[in-house]
Amino acid sequence: MSAPNYWDYLQLDKLLSLQGGLEGAGDVESPDELHFIVVHQVYELWFKLILRSLRLARDRMAEPRVAEETIPYVVHHLRRVSAVLQLAVQHWKVVETLTPQDFLAFRDKLMPASGFQSFQMREMEIVLGLEEADRISYGKMKPIEHIQDLGKSSPSGAYVGGRIDIARSEASFLSALNEWLYRTPIHGSVPTDAGDEAVVGAFVEQYLAATERIHAGGFERLVSALGERSREELVARYSSTRAAGRAFLLAEDAEESVRTRVRRVRAAALFIESYRDLPLLAWPRLLLDVVVETEEELVLFRNRHARMVERLIGRRPGTGGSGGVDYLDKTLGYRVFRDLWAIRTVLLPKDQLPPLGNAAFYGFASP
Ligand code: HEM
Repeated sequence: MSAPNYWDYLQLDKLLSLQGGLEGAGDVESPDELHFIVVHQVYELWFKLILRSLRLARDRMAEPRVAEETIPYVVHHLRRVSAVLQLAVQHWKVVETLTPQDFLAFRDKLMPASGFQSFQMREMEIVLGLEEADRISYGKMKPIEHIQDLGKSSPSGAYVGGRIDIARSEASFLSALNEWLYRTPIHGSVPTDAGDEAVVGAFVEQYLAATERIHAGGFERLVSALGERSREELVARYSSTRAAGRAFLLAEDAEESVRTRVRRVRAAALFIESYRDLPLLAWPRLLLDVVVETEEELVLFRNRHARMVERLIGRRPGTGGSGGVDYLDKTLGYRVFRDLWAIRTVLLPKDQLPPLGNAAFYGFASP
């Protein structure tokens, strides 16, 4: 066997012969269309890498017992996902070198093809844990149904539908993360301990009481700075934020059958964020950080795509038939890790935290 070389290893002959567009063989003639095809293909390659890393991270998080040395592995893969997404956000700059009129020259022949049918994007969302019910409808259909429906009339439809079905049959990263959070010690207490519910309940109540105190102080300062006439509005704003924080920590939005569980998951995330300086929580907090960072990158990716689309085609409908930018802007509200975002609203400063219970568990001698 001859020594390996660069072009065979990367199968460059095949890779560089895939830019023929609808015409197929050879490169498309228009340099703008070649640009359009290449930038899409580059994105799809990045998506491929992201999916691999997400699944690896998810599989390790889904283990019944996540060993401490597993977390760095999960963080490593999520950092890769986040780094790729950061790059993907920058990549829209390259896409924008296509002028609106250059695009109009070949846009119509693409209909009804659209990035909306990027099944790898859908797989990423599913593997992360985006709920079907949270998706924005597309006409009368949800995005996934749309892909599956289109797939029925296309020779490659079975392949696409199969990939989506596989992703949907797997556990999501979100559910694996929540299981892990559920088992996370809070003040050294775990769910199998007899008094665990009381420990969690006391932690949450202490937290909420401290929030009331802090709000009262901050509120009065704001009123004296903005004037008495703003009092009424500020009372309403502060009290609704506090009520929402309480409802969130007590999991009032969750079905009764799972409320205790959801409450514990949220309390665990809040505990890690609050006592993040504890050496025992060093990796767990890095994990939560990178999860939020990854989702933030995904939101920025969606936003940057929408702004690029607005610049190129204005507010006209997309080639896939959606409302275009109006539809894309609605997807900016997607959040998978809602609890981790919500924690920021209730988080206390370090010097106001309830005292750490069971300090010995965290490697400190009791006073
Ligand atoms: C000239 C460049 C582009 C334009 C004008 C454009 C426009 C649009 C529009 C209008 C939509 C909404 C669906 C529709 O009705 O078609 C959409 C969706 C989408 N596009 Fe693009 N796009 C462009 C490039 C790209 C690229 C390079 C990617 C990279 C893969 C991409 C990925 C997506 C994805 C994933 C969606 C679905 C968003 C969602 O449903 O959450 N687009 N695009």
